[in-house]
Amino acid sequence: MMFEAAAITATDPEALYAELARQAEGLLAGERDWIANAANLASLIFTSLPDLNWAGFYFLKGDTLVLGPFQGKPACVRIAMGRGVCGAAAQQRRTLRVEDVNGFPDHIACDLASRSELVVPLIGGAKVLGVLDLDSPKPSRFGQADQAGLERLAAIFLKASDPP
Ligand code: SME
Repeated sequence: MMFEAAAITATDPEALYAELARQAEGLLAGERDWIANAANLASLIFTSLPDLNWAGFYFLKGDTLVLGPFQGKPACVRIAMGRGVCGAAAQQRRTLRVEDVNGFPDHIACDLASRSELVVPLIGGAKVLGVLDLDSPKPSRFGQADQAGLERLAAIFLKASDPP
């Protein structure tokens, strides 16, 4: 199967994320493998959204978030629960949007180019399974529409994939 991501021309964020959700559903349809779907979704996000320098997954193993499939520069492999933006989002079980990572005292800098960050927790049943993390070199890159759009993409991933 070859997936041809259609060029996304939508200019308003709601239309852009509606189109991206449609593409994600098509991309993950017929495949339940957790890692394969995470890898393809990271690629779809990274190649479709402007001004990102990293997009990918960390999966919770015990008390530690461990690096999963991603696009961008090599990243920190292990993040303890509660640490950094990723660990805080996982612990608090809510999406965190950081306008300026330099103002987030516990931010873990994997790439010094990162200026803003959006982290969506992946929650299956009652369990935190990991996080979906996006980084941008632009301050305040992520707004409410990005949060809603990425939460929708995370939900599509969770529904389409069998957790390990
Ligand atoms: N900045 C994140 C670490 C992960 S990297 O950005 C890929 C954090 O503070 O949790």
